Amino acid sequence: VIDPRRQGQYERLYTQLEGLIKEKSPNLIAGMATMVALLHAKLSYHFWTGFYFVAGPDELHVGPYQGSVACQILKGRGVCLACATSGEAVVVPDVHVFPGHIACDPRSQSEIVLPLKKEGRVVAVLDIDSDQPAMFDEDDVAPLQKILELLVPLMSE
Ligand code: SME
Repeated sequence: VIDPRRQGQYERLYTQLEGLIKEKSPNLIAGMATMVALLHAKLSYHFWTGFYFVAGPDELHVGPYQGSVACQILKGRGVCLACATSGEAVVVPDVHVFPGHIACDPRSQSEIVLPLKKEGRVVAVLDIDSDQPAMFDEDDVAPLQKILELLVPLMSE
């Protein structure tokens, strides 16, 4: 546990995002944009919050995001691709020791990436970067994954 207040914050953000997205967001992009806007604004340790779409077996394309200007295409390596390929969340306490990490902004120090799946297939990943080291651990995975699942009904078309 990095901060004992965080689980409560996640629960409040879930409820708030449920109200904003469920039966309101007209499509997936709208829901994603609203999600990253709120997460980025409310969680002060977020330095970059955004989505990458799976665009091929080895390639991701940036989606809605908040923070500094991002790499548009991620190819061949990196934390986001590791998550997309494995279908599992990836927690990186120190980006400098993750082999193949892609530094879109050199100020990023730690990172968490979670998969958004449709019928078992990864469609996109949510990437959160912090400019402080070790800002995420395994306790962040389940509450963030629950928030991410709010987008599943928007993937049906
Ligand atoms: N660090 C990511 C790249 C994306 S950004 O930092 C916005 C990666 O290694 O996949």
